Amino acid sequence: MDFNYTPEQKMVQSMVQRFAEAEIKPIAQEIDATEEFPWPVLRKMGQLNIMGMAIPKEWGGAGVDTISYMMAIEEIAKVCASTSVIMAVHNSVCCYPIYLFGTDAQKEKFLKPLAAGDKLGAFALTEPSAGSDAGAVRTTATLDGDEYIIQGNKIFITSGSEADTVLILASTDLSKGVRGLSAFLVEKGTPGYTYGTIEDKMGVRASATTELVFENCRIPKDNLLGQEGKGFKIGMTTLDASRMGIAAQAVGIAQGALDESIKYAKEREQFGRPIGKFQAIQWMLAEMATKIEAARFLVHHAAYLKEAGKPFTKESAMAKLYASKIAREVTSDAVQIHGGYGYTKDYAVERFYREAKITEIYEGTSEVQKMVIAREALK
Ligand code: CAA
Repeated sequence: MDFNYTPEQKMVQSMVQRFAEAEIKPIAQEIDATEEFPWPVLRKMGQLNIMGMAIPKEWGGAGVDTISYMMAIEEIAKVCASTSVIMAVHNSVCCYPIYLFGTDAQKEKFLKPLAAGDKLGAFALTEPSAGSDAGAVRTTATLDGDEYIIQGNKIFITSGSEADTVLILASTDLSKGVRGLSAFLVEKGTPGYTYGTIEDKMGVRASATTELVFENCRIPKDNLLGQEGKGFKIGMTTLDASRMGIAAQAVGIAQGALDESIKYAKEREQFGRPIGKFQAIQWMLAEMATKIEAARFLVHHAAYLKEAGKPFTKESAMAKLYASKIAREVTSDAVQIHGGYGYTKDYAVERFYREAKITEIYEGTSEVQKMVIAREALK
């Protein structure tokens, strides 16, 4: 593994960093309070090719490598986790599986406008009784002539009320369990497809986490992604790759909290000097910085393996497990350094603390990551 980043990776990182500072940071606190979906910023991200980052140019994307993509997620999460998860879900769990498993006709119809940032994507796996046990999906897809009829409901779907295209997992044969699951692409506006409650969440509050409802929803047979019965594998392959992106998000949240803490430690005076002069604060900052660096290496290592065409399931899960844990710890220390001020909404660390927690939950809880890591280790 080469520890030198390429000129292209550095260029992508600094471009996204400048954009995030100028366009996303100023609205982050506000959209956290109002839960307003950041459409204006997402449209600009589309124009900058941030919404189809790792998709090859021939399908409308930017065609950058996985490390550059991880850097982009981190830079956005550093200022706003809501925007970063909308972007990561769109790229990793909607665009990417269409690219991997779609036919050329599906890529032309669905992927091109998504990767160009003209449309927004979502991913719908979770159901009331299918959380960590993802194979317990009860939504059904029944073939009727040239159409599938979708029946069921999905919960906790990022961008659920906003997405133009949603990749869903539904059962084409309930008797076969996980081997009966299939993947489908459903377009906003299809009769019988609506959204329900938008969740009032602890963090990532602007990401429109929504219930999706399918009632006699008819979609063309051609919207089947891959083959019938291969949906679970498609879902798992997708999540293997996307989990390192949530790890990158966790690194970004933690880095944002550390940056704020360093600034505060230099400015805030107690006992006649800046609190950064006290060893108690210095040790906290040192631990925070070291954890972040270690987590970032895990993310970039997983990305490197993926790019090199090597297995990365375990490393992606490890990156997510560790980065999400240290993001919770680092953001907690950041609030501690800020003292009473850190407990108010006047300081970004209060938001970072709330945002960090979800990285231990979505795209597989920490307990699921441990299952994945242990299974790989015991192979
Ligand atoms: N790649 C390819 N195939 C895989 C696979 C992988 N990583 N993992 C499992 N499979 C295959 C197995 O080979 C097996 O296939 P066969 O039947 O042909 O042998 C089949 O899938 C079933 O495998 P398991 O018996 O191992 O499956 P399981 O029921 O024990 O579940 C699990 C494994 C890892 C716990 C899985 O259920 C899981 O990942 N759960 C967490 C769900 C999750 O991450 N949800 C996230 C929702 S999306 C989200 O959060 C997005 C957002 O908005 C931010």
